[in-house]
Amino acid sequence: MKLLIDELETNKILSKEGFVQLIIGRTPELTQYLFEKSRKIRQKYYQKDVYIRGLIEFTNYCKNDCYYCGIRRSNRNISRYRLTKEQILQSCETGYHLGFRTFVLQGGEDNTYDDDKICDMVYSIKQKYPDCAVTLSLGEKSYKSYLSYYQAGADRYLLRHETASEEHYKKLHPSELSLENRKQCLWNLKKIGYQVGTGFMVGSPYQTPEDLAEDLLFIHKLQPEMVGIGPFIPHQDTPFAKERGDNGELTLFLLAILRLMLPSVLLPATTALGTIDSRGREKGILAGANVVMPNLSPINVREKYLLYDNKICTGDEAAECRHCLQQRMQSIGYHVVVNRGDFKPLGE
Ligand code: 5AD
Ligand code: FES
Repeated sequence: MKLLIDELETNKILSKEGFVQLIIGRTPELTQYLFEKSRKIRQKYYQKDVYIRGLIEFTNYCKNDCYYCGIRRSNRNISRYRLTKEQILQSCETGYHLGFRTFVLQGGEDNTYDDDKICDMVYSIKQKYPDCAVTLSLGEKSYKSYLSYYQAGADRYLLRHETASEEHYKKLHPSELSLENRKQCLWNLKKIGYQVGTGFMVGSPYQTPEDLAEDLLFIHKLQPEMVGIGPFIPHQDTPFAKERGDNGELTLFLLAILRLMLPSVLLPATTALGTIDSRGREKGILAGANVVMPNLSPINVREKYLLYDNKICTGDEAAECRHCLQQRMQSIGYHVVVNRGDFKPLGE
């Protein structure tokens, strides 16, 4: 099995069977072997730096009905909100003073923010903070829309593919959504010139090791600049309320595999990982992650943006999280840096 890890390090890819074997056959010893390698690669590109992104969850309205997601349209138990442009700019202002140089605008698929509104928002943020990057995470849009956001100044786009297996995709989403379109969106974003992030949930219902291998193969093909993976966590008001969560260990293992596959990729230790394990984000960094994405949304809406149960930091001011993360990173010998934290192409 160590040979498989060596092969992955050298070739940056394994066959589907190879990935499946590695996932099924993992042991604590093998995991340590993998983590030593992933940390060394991380060190080469990013030293002990941790990049931070200020996440602004600006709308929890969503026209989609994904079975796993707490803000799905069928959920009648949440109070919906939309942030105004002024509120969003205010969050950026707070964030800027705390040392954030990337703002991530994330929301449900909410068409009341039309392309003009999104472009205006992006443009305004870039005007006011020319030294900052703007990342969008607004779901599936047309090529034309993506192009207009890019032309307004957006730098990056996050769109997790969620699962690269057709069959599995259908078990997580109603039939109005398709994996084909999702993948097309990702290729479109690439073509336009965004730094692109994709990713998937670890341990989502019905997921098999073969599905995970497909995810890794798809990611290898796409060659994204960012990959967001986090454990699936059930949400009480979804069809998956009674499904199992608890996939921290596998998430860490996959983070390390991703670091070997895409040596300089931007890899967040996600909030979901920090939710299922109080030291999850630290463990993520030690497995090869190099990004954390604390929340910058106004505190009165935090409790309303729950994609899953027990989400951390919903009661903490941005400044508290910023400070907390600094401490957490220092406790493991890493440090938060104040810069845009752009992707570094291989070889630099
Ligand atoms: N558990 C973990 N992650 C989730 N997401 C949505 N619902 C859940 C859940 N129940 C993830 C999806 C989405 C990202 C914003 O959050 O992967 O792309
Ligand atoms: Fe929010 Fe620790 S990161 S309180």
